[in-house]
Amino acid sequence: MTISWTMAIDFSQHIVITTGEWNYSFRAIMNTRECVVCIPPVTMLETVVRIGDVSGANIDKFNMFGPTPLPAVTVNAPLIDGCIACLECKVVDCIEKYGFIIMKVTRVTVNPDCHDRRMIHAIGDGSFVADGETFNCRELMADKLPPGL
Ligand SMILES: Cc1cc2nc3c(=O)[nH]c(=O)nc-3n(C[C@H](O)[C@H](O)[C@H](O)COP(=O)(O)O)c2cc1C
Repeated sequence: MTISWTMAIDFSQHIVITTGEWNYSFRAIMNTRECVVCIPPVTMLETVVRIGDVSGANIDKFNMFGPTPLPAVTVNAPLIDGCIACLECKVVDCIEKYGFIIMKVTRVTVNPDCHDRRMIHAIGDGSFVADGETFNCRELMADKLPPGL
């Protein structure tokens, strides 16, 4: 599924995704207690939107939209070829009232062949922006960063 309501919640590899039982993916994740979160480059935007417009309950989205599944190491769900990075995740908690699925990232695969590394950000009204300029404020917030980061 396509998912834009996501965030990192600490420096200990925990992330949250927000979804609910109206999505096939929610039920699959709650049943298997695992998933892979892939970060697509801006070049995949149209495919990303199309994938988020239909349900895997009725169709095989890999067949329909063409992204190639690749084997993961710590979970059974596949990585998606062509993405900037894929996070293998295990569910550690769920706050169903808000659709929060809290997960521990168990493995990260970064794709060295993905040269356009601009990520897509959903505005929320059907429009999107891609990553642009990078600003370095590491010195200003050095005391908030874990050692070695
Ligand atoms: C750009 C975009 C962002 C989306 N973000 C979310 C999201 O954050 N949470 C969610 O539950 N659904 C989100 N959706 C909707 C799901 O991707 C959509 O309901 C999808 O059909 C679910 O597929 P599934 O039934 O195979 O799980 C998004 C859709 C699009 C196009």
